[in-house]
Amino acid sequence: MLDPIMTKPWHHVSEWFPNDKPTPFYTTHGSTLWDYTCHEPKLNHLINDTMSSDAQLVTNMVVRDCKRVFKGFNSLVDIDSGTGTVAKAIVDAFPHLKCIVFDLPHVVADLKGTENLIYAGGDMFEGRERNEKEWAKLFFDAGFNDYKIAPVLGLRYVIEVYA
Ligand SMILES: C[S@@+](CC[C@H](N)C(=O)[O-])C[C@H]1O[C@@H](n2cnc3c(N)ncnc32)[C@H](O)[C@@H]1O
Repeated sequence: MLDPIMTKPWHHVSEWFPNDKPTPFYTTHGSTLWDYTCHEPKLNHLINDTMSSDAQLVTNMVVRDCKRVFKGFNSLVDIDSGTGTVAKAIVDAFPHLKCIVFDLPHVVADLKGTENLIYAGGDMFEGRERNEKEWAKLFFDAGFNDYKIAPVLGLRYVIEVYA
């Protein structure tokens, strides 16, 4: 993480503040970190390994303390999963689950799944936003009784579903 690609953006924070770019990284390199790693295989692997090692810290706790959360599900999609460290630990601990690991194509390109772990590559920002009626159908079909969609900061929403 001391690679100049990663440290240089810290020298551009004051330039980033008044501009309309999303991050100091974007201000420095002209793309998001994720687009950048698409063309830099070495950095791609480094970033993915770093996130994977970070994810292992919480994985044990999730598997140990959140058992009841996973009991009611048959399947799980881990969006922005990276190389799937968390998903792998979850399907190992709860083998009745089928899990889809979704991340950018260059992140999951060389990864092999198993019978109950499938890797899928794509861009989560491509496609169409669901309207409220479609969300409601999704929740009710999944067995939930009620839901609440609350706007946060104008562009994002928090969705709560109730059983
Ligand atoms: C902060 S990492 C989280 C990784 C993993 N969930 C973890 O906890 O270790 C964010 C992930 O989002 C992925 N990502 C970024 N933009 C994306 C997009 N537009 N579509 C799909 N995945 C994306 C990146 O490749 C990266 O693996």
